[in-house]
Amino acid sequence: MSNVEQTLSIIKPDAVERNLQEEIKNEFKRNDFIIVKDKKIHISKKEAEQFYKVHQAKPFYNDLCNYLSSGPIVVMILEKENAVLDNRNLMGATNPKEAKEGTLRNKYGLSIDKNSAHGSDSVENAKIEIDFFFKD
Ligand code: CMP
Repeated sequence: MSNVEQTLSIIKPDAVERNLQEEIKNEFKRNDFIIVKDKKIHISKKEAEQFYKVHQAKPFYNDLCNYLSSGPIVVMILEKENAVLDNRNLMGATNPKEAKEGTLRNKYGLSIDKNSAHGSDSVENAKIEIDFFFKD
């Protein structure tokens, strides 16, 4: 039985700043993801706070929201079989120092904050995150 899913991916400010968006999009395409929609945007701190609300109790929340709103990002809806888990595997561990060789965060990430990519962590959150950026 097929299990086609959609997930939300963000190319974060550190990667956009280094002009890596096409290279990272090509990584997704090479790994059989379809980029259903994409747009380059610059969100406000308030929008970042809303997006990362699940992390609001964490000590890194304020820095995280400042960071995501610090420069342009590319948001994408990715689609394939098992898209949520496959995207997380392709991204690698949150901390680039712990991310396996060949993963996006290993190749492009600079630090735990500047880790180049975000991906939804569940099908349920993917729906919420896709709606957040693409509801219109
Ligand atoms: P992301 O997948 O976008 O989800 C939340 C982000 O918080 C995470 O990537 C990291 O970039 C950032 N972050 C900063 N510090 C931490 C931490 N100690 N643990 C987890 N995530 C962190």
